[in-house]
Amino acid sequence: MIEKQFLKYQAQTTPHPLGIEISRAYGSYIYNTNNIVFLDFVAGVSATPLGHNHPKVVNAIKEQLDKYMHVMVYGEYIQRPAVELAKLLSDNLPASLEKTYLTNSGTEAIEGALKLAKRATGRSEIISANKAYHGNTMGSMSVMGFEERKQAFRPLLPDVRFIDFNSEKDLNKITTKTACVILETIQGGAGFIEPTNNYLEKVRKRCYDVGALLILDEIQPGIGRTGKLFGFEHYNCIPDILVTGKALGGGMPIGAFTASSDLMDLLMDNPKLGHITTFGGHPVIAASALATLKEVTESNLIPLTLEKEKLFRKQLIHPLIKEIRGKGLMLALIMESADITNQLILKAQDQGLILFWLLFEPKAVRITPPLTISEEEIIKGCNIILDTLNSIK
Ligand SMILES: Cc1ncc(COP(=O)(O)O)c(C=O)c1O
Repeated sequence: MIEKQFLKYQAQTTPHPLGIEISRAYGSYIYNTNNIVFLDFVAGVSATPLGHNHPKVVNAIKEQLDKYMHVMVYGEYIQRPAVELAKLLSDNLPASLEKTYLTNSGTEAIEGALKLAKRATGRSEIISANKAYHGNTMGSMSVMGFEERKQAFRPLLPDVRFIDFNSEKDLNKITTKTACVILETIQGGAGFIEPTNNYLEKVRKRCYDVGALLILDEIQPGIGRTGKLFGFEHYNCIPDILVTGKALGGGMPIGAFTASSDLMDLLMDNPKLGHITTFGGHPVIAASALATLKEVTESNLIPLTLEKEKLFRKQLIHPLIKEIRGKGLMLALIMESADITNQLILKAQDQGLILFWLLFEPKAVRITPPLTISEEEIIKGCNIILDTLNSIK
């Protein structure tokens, strides 16, 4: 009944949605309405770092609900959860990343960051990377490096150019005409591609040389997933504008872009109200994010991430797994073919393990569990993967 209504009334974006009917979710587990339990190796696509319904997050939300919900558009009233969240982000970032604008989603934060770069430099050219994913609104889609998925929506933003991620040769395409370079610190949709050979450091230097701003999109690697609070900490490269989202909300919808006060204050004039949102900085969402960020930064979850990566890599040895890419708990199994990937994801779900695809790499299987996942749960899930692979001919 509800499945029919789901298909009839709720807009669909794939012909075959996974269609698990959810009843509840706690920790690393999701339950369907038949009380079947699934071990979650996906975490809502890297968005629930503390697992499902973490008690500290739920309490923070409930406490805030009892006080007030939406009272005013972004930026007019002093609302403690948003202020404390912005301050805690700043406390955990280099001094140049001090001021944060809170949005409702990752893509909206990307839009804000691109606007800020144009406003700050007075230039229009944006440079992005092939196979990049930064979201699905028009600006973010304009900097998406995958033509097939954006052709139907053209015309998009003009003056966007693409370079190959990790190509040193392409760096000379960044010039004095460039307003900003936008990159994912670790490319997600492309197949969890890490920067190599000090690439980000070289991009950083080139941006300084030509006066272009560097935007790093940490919507996926950020908030501890790669073994540091932010991915850029691995690569000796501090962006001018940092974009976060997903895990920051602890299971609630959020995005954020952070920059120096000098940069961010440009949104106050010429024109004033340089970026507007009704709900950005929403007190209930911000309370959830604040509790999440506190827990991630005050616990030992971040260093444990690297131990857990080792365990995954030790367990997941199988002739059908050609490579494991990524860092920390942002891992992708690369299979021999897209067909094996599809079989593994669908059959593992039948065995009670949730896996998922990556956007632009059909051979990849996503493993991005909650950071709170236990060793026993990792071993249990890996055994399901191995058994499933053994059943694939
Ligand atoms: C790297 C990256 N940037 C941007 C986005 C867009 O975020 P949202 O879906 O919250 O708009 C995503 C979401 O998958 C992402 O992975």
